[in-house]
Amino acid sequence: MELSIVREYFESENNKHLTKEEVIKSRNDFFLSIKDEFITTDDGSLSLKFQDTMHSYIGALKERLYAYTIPSKIEDKERLLDICSGFGYNALYALYHNPKLKIDMIEKHWEISAISLLIPLPENYYFLDTSFNKIKGAVEHRLSKMGYIKNLAYRNYPSIKLHIEEAEIVLSEMNDKFDVIFFDPYKSEVSPELFTIDFVKLMVDRLEEKGIFLTYLSNYAIRSALSCFLNIGKVELPLKKVEGTIASRALEEKSLDSYEERIISLTELGIPYRRADNPEEIILNRLKERLEMKNKYLLPSSKRNIVNFEDAFTGSDISLKNRLEEFGLTKELAEYIICPQNEKCSCGKCNKRYNSTSERILEMRKRIYEIKGFNHEACPYTH
Ligand SMILES: C[S@@+](CC[C@H](N)C(=O)[O-])C[C@H]1O[C@@H](n2cnc3c(N)ncnc32)[C@H](O)[C@@H]1O
Repeated sequence: MELSIVREYFESENNKHLTKEEVIKSRNDFFLSIKDEFITTDDGSLSLKFQDTMHSYIGALKERLYAYTIPSKIEDKERLLDICSGFGYNALYALYHNPKLKIDMIEKHWEISAISLLIPLPENYYFLDTSFNKIKGAVEHRLSKMGYIKNLAYRNYPSIKLHIEEAEIVLSEMNDKFDVIFFDPYKSEVSPELFTIDFVKLMVDRLEEKGIFLTYLSNYAIRSALSCFLNIGKVELPLKKVEGTIASRALEEKSLDSYEERIISLTELGIPYRRADNPEEIILNRLKERLEMKNKYLLPSSKRNIVNFEDAFTGSDISLKNRLEEFGLTKELAEYIICPQNEKCSCGKCNKRYNSTSERILEMRKRIYEIKGFNHEACPYTH
């Protein structure tokens, strides 16, 4: 959808002085005139294609519950930072479960936030109405302060603060800390600026000591970047094949699968995005870095079983064994690299056990770099 449609509607609404009832009717009529622009997802909630599909087809609202609200244990939390807040679905579900929650939402496009003032909830989600009205109050208030909206239909709700700006700018200027962060961007191809290790650091800096970070993503680059600063774990999403990611300073409840840990630490898929002047450069630079590192210092991800060392050295996969030997690994070296994943040390060279996924990722990467003579920190932030 073109955002100008929303802009033009509010420009025309602003030319009239409307009562609260008239505002709601006018916005409802406008919504009905553009409703075909929206996608009705499987749970009846509305989504939109703007730059990319904004929500999952399995249910825009349902996904919020499983990927964010439930794993965040939001009932016990005080402050939520909702990055890429869109229509405010994440915030409204969180608020429903914890009406005392203070929320900061960050959204780049005011027109996307304004869409929350236009769209209805489906009947099966009417129980979220009170929370949605609070979100609408905060959105309306902020947009009227910015001069985009004149007629007001909802009471301001000061516990919710909306920032209309690039997330990177908001975070670099922010000093507040949060005990929950929700990160809900488009995929990396669409918003690479939100996937850089530098941006991940900015988010982590806003997390309280005991805070929890959540994202629906299971992207290798983002998990790799997060593992430099926090303990990462998986969030099983009952409605989807892919999993989400949780990160905090505490030991994770559900570690990543050992195969995933190896892919992130030992192949070039674990190379993060890094800040650059524009999105195209961010993508291009990572591709270049992957090419430089692949086969030389890290295993190539193109053959996905490349990290199944057991098949190569104690099983029957001769071609994999040959590939790994070409890269410079022997049975002993392979065992040394993956020893951090064992309960007990079998290589004789560990001086501790590696209890978290992040520790294992960093240690295994350190070991492969050491073997390949690559003189860099295991955490790619310092590369
Ligand atoms: C996948 S949607 C998120 C949906 C949202 N959480 C919701 O509840 O409706 C991604 C959102 O991120 C916003 N966005 C994209 N790039 C951004 C950036 N650099 N800073 C802040 N927001 C951004 C988009 O406008 C879009 O609304």
